[in-house]
Amino acid sequence: MCGIVGYTGHRQAYPVILKGLKRLEYRGYDSSGVALLKDGVLNVYKKKGKVAELEESMIGKNIDAQIGIGHTRWATHGEPSDRNAHPHSSKSGKIAMIHNGIIENYALIKQELVNKGYSFTSDTDTEVLLNFIEDIKNNNECSLEEAIRIALKRVTGAYCILVVEQDNPDTIIAARKGSPLVIGIGKGEHFLASDASPIIEYTKEVVYVNDYELAIVKPDELILKNIGNEKITPFITKLDMELAAIEKGGYDHFMLKEIFEQPSTIFDCLRGRLDSKESTIKMSGVDLNIEHIINANRIMIVACGTSWHAGLVAEYIIEELCRIPVEVEYASEFRYRNPIVNKGDLIIAISQSGETADTLVALEKAKEDGAFIFGVVNAVGSSIARISNAGAYTHAGPEIGVASTKAFTGQLAVLIMVALSIAKHKGTITDARFNELLVEMEQIPEKVDSILKNAEQLKVIAEKYKDASDFLFLGRGYNFPIALEGALKLKEISYIHAEGYPAAEMKHGPIALVDENLPVVFIATKDQYHEKIVSNMQEIKARKGKIISIITEGDKVSAELSNDCFAIPTADEIIAPLLTVIPLQLLSYYVGIAKGIDVDKPRNLAKSVTVE
Ligand code: M6R
Repeated sequence: MCGIVGYTGHRQAYPVILKGLKRLEYRGYDSSGVALLKDGVLNVYKKKGKVAELEESMIGKNIDAQIGIGHTRWATHGEPSDRNAHPHSSKSGKIAMIHNGIIENYALIKQELVNKGYSFTSDTDTEVLLNFIEDIKNNNECSLEEAIRIALKRVTGAYCILVVEQDNPDTIIAARKGSPLVIGIGKGEHFLASDASPIIEYTKEVVYVNDYELAIVKPDELILKNIGNEKITPFITKLDMELAAIEKGGYDHFMLKEIFEQPSTIFDCLRGRLDSKESTIKMSGVDLNIEHIINANRIMIVACGTSWHAGLVAEYIIEELCRIPVEVEYASEFRYRNPIVNKGDLIIAISQSGETADTLVALEKAKEDGAFIFGVVNAVGSSIARISNAGAYTHAGPEIGVASTKAFTGQLAVLIMVALSIAKHKGTITDARFNELLVEMEQIPEKVDSILKNAEQLKVIAEKYKDASDFLFLGRGYNFPIALEGALKLKEISYIHAEGYPAAEMKHGPIALVDENLPVVFIATKDQYHEKIVSNMQEIKARKGKIISIITEGDKVSAELSNDCFAIPTADEIIAPLLTVIPLQLLSYYVGIAKGIDVDKPRNLAKSVTVE
């Protein structure tokens, strides 16, 4: 939610910031803006809409500056508009600030300021925090840094802020709690951003700022302090990411590129971990903590959205293979209800971004209660990765499209390996079955590749059904969560209403929706449920619903029952979700495109949901 970029150094700041904002646009695209500081003059430019609209509005403006901050917004407080866009300026006009997060007690602080005669030009919590900082600075006659420290001690909520002031011509002050901040270290220059994508082009040396830390950033100096004003030695990390990974590489959209990357991202995820010849799975996060893991009384999986769907698949697999009870919770529910978490419980946190606020706070709570946290995260060095006691990265590379695709299959691949590894250590799987599944896993990248070769078939199906107002997605067993995922993907990027259901539940209600206008997508691959799902297809056909099915190659029965079908290679039912989800991703993509939607940036969404 919201992307922030800052630069101080010897280059022109605006081009660096603009390019950075474009890379961070997946985090929000309701409005954007920049503040540029030159010779004691602070120029603030902002515009409702995507970064391209800001760029256009900047033609002819004075952009000469070697220091500046920029923001791309996902609206929380106040509608998307020019006046609610960041950066905000303080009452005196001498300080400008950008903010990612939410100040929960802003109304109280605002009232205090109103009582003192302040008025506000926006509806944002950010403008309140900024004026609160300026008020403290004026009253205490202290430095901006000191004022920020005092203000942040009073604030509840989440923030990453970047602040510049007229009287400090080369300094950006940054602070974070709950929202990410990375600082890139160059020669005589520093880059600040919500993630490393705006930085990677200039330097690979970065510092991940932690919660309750303040950074005072000048071209030649980076000072890190805690909120108590004690200096901290910055821990420099080398980025393991290439620029190509965050560019479209010839594809029309990031989403399509990311769907097509899956043979290699799944391969990368398995590489060095799973070896069928040696009959081993090596995952240090599991192996080094195996006692903890196999002795867990139960496993709780905490996640949101697509990651939650990966958790549901994992529930079925872990219970089947490891015989450990598993519960899957929406992080947003888990954190606000009063869940029973006991010492010895294992929490598996799943997150692509590693920054999802609901998941992060749920984990903090569970950790306090003594749970052991195992993170399944894609973004290296992210907050969830860092708060976890152990974990395994999905190695899918940066995922830019708002709709999660390759991160999901990475999560499934990791979770299957974790389940197999636990089962092996616990002795709940035979050697023969273990080996059989390892061999099948190694074949997955090739099978995904063969599905992608037939992508055009899904384009044709998408064209046929793009004008439907509703869709139903049905699956059973390991493919029930894939039905949910198929429905979520379609909703997100085509704005078509879609529901996912366990196929057998259909007769308990949703069947009332079926008529000749309703496309019903069945995941009807050959597995233990196949006969039953064929019966469910008959029930839809009898009511004239349009059946689109994902079937196993050679399954004539399902093909004949379907109006349209897409065949995938055979796979063991435990790992079949790694295949069945691929045609659903493509179907959504092609429907979204056919409807003229910007699938990488669908309305109202943001990639990384860092507000509660
Ligand atoms: O980064 P996370 O995996 O924690 O994000 C969780 C959800 O916000 C995310 O999966 C969301 O549902 C995606 N837009 C789905 O495509």
